[in-house]
Amino acid sequence: MSSRKQFINQISGGALALASTAFLTKPLSDSFYEELNSFSGSAFDIAKDEDFWATVQQAFTVDRSLINLNNGGVSPSPEFVQAAMKKHLDFSNQAPVYNMWRILEPRREGVRQRIARMFGVDTEEIALTRNASESLQICQLGIDLKKGDEVLTTDQDYPRMITTFQQRERREGIKLNQFSIPVPAENDDEIVSLFEQNITPKTKLILMSHIVNISGQILPVKKVVQMARKKGIPVIVDGAHAFAHFTFKQEDLDCDYYTTSLHKWLFAPHGTGMLYVKKDKIKDLWPMMAAPETMDENIRKFEEIGTHPAANYLAIGEALTFHEGIGSDRKEARLKYLNDYWIDQLIDNDRVVLHTSRNPKYACAIATVELKGIAPNDLNAALWRDYRIITTPINHDQFKGIRVTPNVYTTLEELDRFVDALKDQLKS
Ligand SMILES: Cc1ncc(COP(=O)(O)O)c(C=O)c1O
Repeated sequence: MSSRKQFINQISGGALALASTAFLTKPLSDSFYEELNSFSGSAFDIAKDEDFWATVQQAFTVDRSLINLNNGGVSPSPEFVQAAMKKHLDFSNQAPVYNMWRILEPRREGVRQRIARMFGVDTEEIALTRNASESLQICQLGIDLKKGDEVLTTDQDYPRMITTFQQRERREGIKLNQFSIPVPAENDDEIVSLFEQNITPKTKLILMSHIVNISGQILPVKKVVQMARKKGIPVIVDGAHAFAHFTFKQEDLDCDYYTTSLHKWLFAPHGTGMLYVKKDKIKDLWPMMAAPETMDENIRKFEEIGTHPAANYLAIGEALTFHEGIGSDRKEARLKYLNDYWIDQLIDNDRVVLHTSRNPKYACAIATVELKGIAPNDLNAALWRDYRIITTPINHDQFKGIRVTPNVYTTLEELDRFVDALKDQLKS
């Protein structure tokens, strides 16, 4: 019997209170994975199998009185990731200097190994950080630049990362150059050539997003990296939204620096991120907090941040197990399916403008939609006020709309309610 059917039977047996308590506190057991493994078919078939996804949906403790379509900001962790973190935290608090530092801390090496394996790189190239911002700033601030040097990025890159370069402008006299990219962008060569055209003799560093956060656009990282490498310019890749969202490895990007948050699409505890630095680049990248010279070539120099919790990092392990249990390809196919599911129901309306590609090569779970005649902030506010739906307003010079990001725990019924809400708004 599927766990969903068991759950429904429990409820219909009058055990609602008992079931919901057990549901919130009981860690997922091996049966969860047995359940997922009992489904067969291609990732594409599984993407449409509501029984499979009902099992996944139950692993989360999300508030079903609202519909959270902003999973791009930060994601909830499955219940058993939360449970693992609490377990490690409780153990730490019994005697932090011993339990946390001497017993738990060394165990993060196992997590490092697993992240490295997932990304297809050497364990000695992975640092565990607190988020993508930290990983990015290590790279953005840790590469030596002198007055007059230029850095290049788009005007769709993440505001904090722009702020980081602007601070270097004020402090060190470097210059930040930004350029626009098309929305959506469905021609790799055009993107590569835009980066290339904007390189000047003074360009010393490039920052590019793997996924643009305001549109869900996936960019051709490998082609940009290889073009820039020929000119001797390093590229920092902002993968905040990409890692564990769709399937790829480092070799698909050929990048030297890759950064991501793990609390977005991996569903790891909040405050976890990853930094990849290619082995031969570690030595010349300064850590953000000082580390001893003996650590110059050691990836762990980027983790010299003083006292920090061990629990968050160790529970990344459970998030990895959850991700592997679903299967990366099945997760990607489901996320695409959910996106198509709501877009298909709206796209024929003349007042609906999508600012995200429908080509699966260029987008996955993130999409930005505009309802002509309704300001994004007003629409976002109405969705929350009248329907308890969370989205994100996007107000960029080039395009406007609300950003919609469902997740593996999102049900089709929730997306139907979202579609109905947008149709209501279009009528009014
Ligand atoms: C493209 C991009 N880069 C970096 C970040 C920073 O991520 P975090 O806040 O997890 O550090 C975000 C956050 O949404 C983002 O969208």
